[in-house]
Amino acid sequence: MKHEIIVTAQGHKGTLERLLQEFSCVKLWEATDRDAALKQAAPRIRGLAHFGHSKADGKLMDALPKLEIIANFGVGVDTIELDAAKKRNIIVTNTPDVLNDCVADCAMALVLNTLRKFPQSEAYLRSGFWATRGPYPLATSVGSKTLGILGLGRIGEAIARRALGFGMKIRYHNRNKKNVPYAYDADPVALAKNSDVLMIVTPGGAGTAKMVNAKVLDALGPQGYLVNVARGSVVDEPVLLRYLQEKKIAGAGLDVFEHEPKVPPEFFALDNAVLFPHVASATVETRKAMGDLQVENLRLHFAGQPVKTRVV
Ligand code: NAP
Ligand code: 8YV
Repeated sequence: MKHEIIVTAQGHKGTLERLLQEFSCVKLWEATDRDAALKQAAPRIRGLAHFGHSKADGKLMDALPKLEIIANFGVGVDTIELDAAKKRNIIVTNTPDVLNDCVADCAMALVLNTLRKFPQSEAYLRSGFWATRGPYPLATSVGSKTLGILGLGRIGEAIARRALGFGMKIRYHNRNKKNVPYAYDADPVALAKNSDVLMIVTPGGAGTAKMVNAKVLDALGPQGYLVNVARGSVVDEPVLLRYLQEKKIAGAGLDVFEHEPKVPPEFFALDNAVLFPHVASATVETRKAMGDLQVENLRLHFAGQPVKTRVV
């Protein structure tokens, strides 16, 4: 008999297909009355596959008193109330490492595109301006610039390795200094001050909310660039928008936003910003690997074995 689980959102198609094969799935996003669907399924639900932006909070956990495991699709678990899960002895798993390379590739693409303005120069060509207005204005070199990594974890280290290949120098700030050959700064302001490009790759959530604020952006300065592949919540977004509009920083490359998929339309008008729709892990291969790990964690748990990637 298949175990019955809740699936919170449609998510990655291939993973949903696998979940449907392995488990009996309650598709929460299809329920017209969500509370009634939860109530009806609650007596049988020991597992939940979590996708997307909705919150897996204490209220949801209380609605599922037999819940034993929340398996997240993604390494970032900021949409899951970890303390609430811990208090209820609910295991939370995520999908680390399998996405490091893809996210780091995207981070470097944002560095290159933001400093070199490749998307803007392509739009210039497509608009016919090359012939009518002449060459596209000069941009900024990447080689020899200092990349300050705020959050030198699994993905941060993969970014550092790539950036070294582009001739960049690396600095970082974490709460805990690491045994790595990169210069350490004691706080985000010092890191921003010492960097040409500030790369955010911390987790989201309360611990990092608006950590990149006016003070940090002032330290980055009018020649400095911000890249964010972490979470929109880590940046004070209205302040960032104003700093870009007023050219108080040179530019920004953003894969993540505070209220996704909504992006303040004022960003669209900026020539000094490169904007991606949260695509850092969005390849066929990586999304499959993330889904495989999510499903594997659920399978192991129901087989009475330790999960592979436990967060709490
Ligand atoms: P990780 O290995 O846990 O690394 C996170 C790093 O951030 C750690 O080095 C940690 O060091 C540091 N950190 C945590 N809290 C901090 C704070 N308050 N101040 C300064 N540094 C702090 O995580 P990861 O696997 O690299 O993933 C990082 C994040 O990237 C995820 O949580 C997710 O939000 C984001 N992400 C985004 C995408 C995307 O599609 N754009 C894809 C994957 C991941 P200390 O503990 O020493 O502080
Ligand atoms: C995904 C991510 O875009 O792993 C994460 O934390 O942000 C990304 O890999 C997301 O989890 C799937 O929608």
